[in-house]
Amino acid sequence: MDSLLAARLQMAISLGFHMIFASLAVGMPVLMLMAEGLYLRRRDPRYLELARTWGKVTAITFAIGAVSGTALSFELGLLWPAFMELAGPATGPAFTMEGFAFFTEAIFLGLYLYGWNRLSPWAHWLTGIPVAVSSAASSVMVVAANAWMQNPVAVETLLSEPHRFDPVRALFGNPAWPVMAIHSTLACYAATAFMVAAVYAWAALRGHRDPMRRSALRMAMALGTVAALLMPVTGDASAKFVATNQPVKLAAMEAQFETEAGAPLRLGGLPDPETGAVPYAIEIPGMLSWLAYGDTRAVVPGLDRVPRDLWPNVPVTHVAFQVMVIAGVLMVLAAAWYWWIAWRRRGAVMDHRALMRGLVAAGPLGIVALEAGWIVTEVGRQPWIIRGVMRTAEAVTPAPGVVTTLVAFTLLYLLLSATLVWLLRRIGHGPVPGVTAPPGAGGDGGSGSAVAAEASASASPGRSGAAPSSASAAQATTGRAGTPAVPDATTIEAGLLRPGAGTGRSACPPVPGATTAGAGLRPRATAAPDGPGPGGPSGSLGARGAGRAATPGVE
Ligand code: HEM
Repeated sequence: MDSLLAARLQMAISLGFHMIFASLAVGMPVLMLMAEGLYLRRRDPRYLELARTWGKVTAITFAIGAVSGTALSFELGLLWPAFMELAGPATGPAFTMEGFAFFTEAIFLGLYLYGWNRLSPWAHWLTGIPVAVSSAASSVMVVAANAWMQNPVAVETLLSEPHRFDPVRALFGNPAWPVMAIHSTLACYAATAFMVAAVYAWAALRGHRDPMRRSALRMAMALGTVAALLMPVTGDASAKFVATNQPVKLAAMEAQFETEAGAPLRLGGLPDPETGAVPYAIEIPGMLSWLAYGDTRAVVPGLDRVPRDLWPNVPVTHVAFQVMVIAGVLMVLAAAWYWWIAWRRRGAVMDHRALMRGLVAAGPLGIVALEAGWIVTEVGRQPWIIRGVMRTAEAVTPAPGVVTTLVAFTLLYLLLSATLVWLLRRIGHGPVPGVTAPPGAGGDGGSGSAVAAEASASASPGRSGAAPSSASAAQATTGRAGTPAVPDATTIEAGLLRPGAGTGRSACPPVPGATTAGAGLRPRATAAPDGPGPGGPSGSLGARGAGRAATPGVE
């Protein structure tokens, strides 16, 4: 295998994995904030339990995303030194700002995870906002660097008079940036929300249909629906921009081999670059001209306008584009089905097995579309690494041993994926701290039966996440004078953090003023098999992620 192929394969594999981790890290904080916000408004403990569970998932995806992003930054220097030398003045500031966003996220995620029992409920919720904002900002900054590779604004100045090159203007005055940033950030929300919805739909199929899971599904579908509805709108804006700015990419996306007035939209099909035919495609006359330029008779430049060695891989770009759009359409349909059944059944969706199966099947669609979208963007840009300026082949390292790094980094990403799955399964199967059933209560914590959860919830005054779901029952659980009569984060955590309460975190100081609630919670905390409280597994992960942030990294 030659170095160029090995290097491209390595980037494709690394980015393919990293995108999944990063999209979850962007999407999960939003769900976490939604859940905690609803808890603060409604004082219903099921939202608190969700916020805590999703906070842990956020911490895990953040940590894994940090490691995988750091590895990627090394790969840029290792594999593409000529690109780094040329593009450094433009992309460097974007990566630096991404680093700042990352540090901000690390700091506030630490505050969020460790602040459950130390901050007031509203202050705690507020610490989640910078987590969500900066995770999105990280992605937006990285996309700014990528958008410059697609549309290298002021590259002439950079090459001829580098001292006059203004990176801020080149990055953020680039019209490609907002279009790509909005579409790709929404993609993260859509992908995360559909994955989360699939998890709860899967739980419903296995009999876990308690109110907490129903709320979780509803929240995920709310976020997923908004994002999925916006994907075609922002995608259309992307396509229009590509049509005027990167006509060769558009031609590859649409398998438009010949320049043509009134070009058709080709649905499906397998383009053959040798013959210029697109067998199995369904053509809608004039539609591509209209979508791209708003006129059914407009001329769409074909691949015949450029020499053959400047063509991207047409079959891959076209098929990836079709996959993205089909996945996007299916997501919208799945969302419409969900809300239709929710409306018909007044919210009791989890008994609808066909819908639950459909949502499980729709779970990976967002990730599939996300990967396909990036394939369109990146493969459609070839043979350029910086469009019109530097070819990918010119940027690759002359050093030997790329195949070795390909194997090493692939193993690293496989290991990270296995770690992510293992940690998420632990959250899925283990009891959630603060909601663990007292011995013999039969609650399902994170994974037991819904009936048991409901039963133990009402049988266990003082329980946190699985505490009585009716307001009146919940009010009976309070042990804190002058505070709302529902256990809040502070009271719940207090029980878990009391020295000697079975948390295994004796280093944690007792929480002032939380004695009563703590006492009420102590037996359950003692029974919690997974010991650590809020700063337990997820907290330590967050801290580790923050530690990694000190590494000069790209993402
Ligand atoms: C449903 C209609 C959709 C249309 C018309 C559409 C259109 C496009 C276009 C034209 C591009 C290429 C932009 C470029 O190279 O500059 C693109 C890229 C991309 N798409 Fe889509 N898309 C759609 C749905 C989706 C969905 C559902 C997702 C994921 C959930 C998604 C994720 C992405 C990503 C991650 C990229 C690469 C980043 C970017 O260029 O913005 N797209 N999309």
